[in-house]
Amino acid sequence: MTLTTRLTAAAFGLALSSTAAFADCADLTVEDQFDLEEDQIVTLYECLEAKMAEGYAKEGDEIGSNFRSWAPTATRGAIQGAHGTRILNTFANDIAAEQYLKFADEGVNMPVGSILAKESISLSIKKKKARPGPLFIMTKMEAGSIPETGDWLYAGLQPNGKVMKVKQSFCHDCHAAYDDSDFLAYPVEEVRLGQ
Ligand code: HEC
Repeated sequence: MTLTTRLTAAAFGLALSSTAAFADCADLTVEDQFDLEEDQIVTLYECLEAKMAEGYAKEGDEIGSNFRSWAPTATRGAIQGAHGTRILNTFANDIAAEQYLKFADEGVNMPVGSILAKESISLSIKKKKARPGPLFIMTKMEAGSIPETGDWLYAGLQPNGKVMKVKQSFCHDCHAAYDDSDFLAYPVEEVRLGQ
């Protein structure tokens, strides 16, 4: 390749990427996140799917690098509300999957070693953009090891793969409302897998 063709190629590349910035698949057009239709949510998820996985895995975190190979729990991402203005999608590791996928609302006692990882897409109505949000994680520890949270350890990864500072009581104060299902809230009913 001559220098001129290389420069032309570079300029062309720039032109292409600035055009792409015009109509980005992560653009939001709605005034309220609850106005998003099912197919729009699916499109946003597909748009950011690879970026999310790449980001969570960036620092080599074991959960961040592997959760996508776990059992999916929903037919698609969905907006629930409690985790902010976000599209949510939860995966269950092999210890958790069988019990979690029953979506039982009483008498649940998740096996030690269960991990739920919930990826999220943050929606900024003001900026009219969707972007990867945190990966929220719950791990079931040895019985009696953390009485304040029913033995759940709450954690999170930022979209760039860095560990989030998580205040256990912040997470658990809300999850405590789901004490009949071992503090699990489950995806919204319309997207629960196999329901
Ligand atoms: C204001 C209430 C609230 C707070 C605070 C909250 N959660 Fe949740 N969480 C929920 C609800 C509701 C769901 C189910 C939402 C869904 O998946 O659609 C959920 C689901 C989850 C799940 C999937 C497992 C399940 O319960 O079905 C994980 C993992 C999780 N939250 C982690 C966290 C972590 C970590 C924090 C703290 C950083 C946190 N949550 C704070 C309400 C909350």
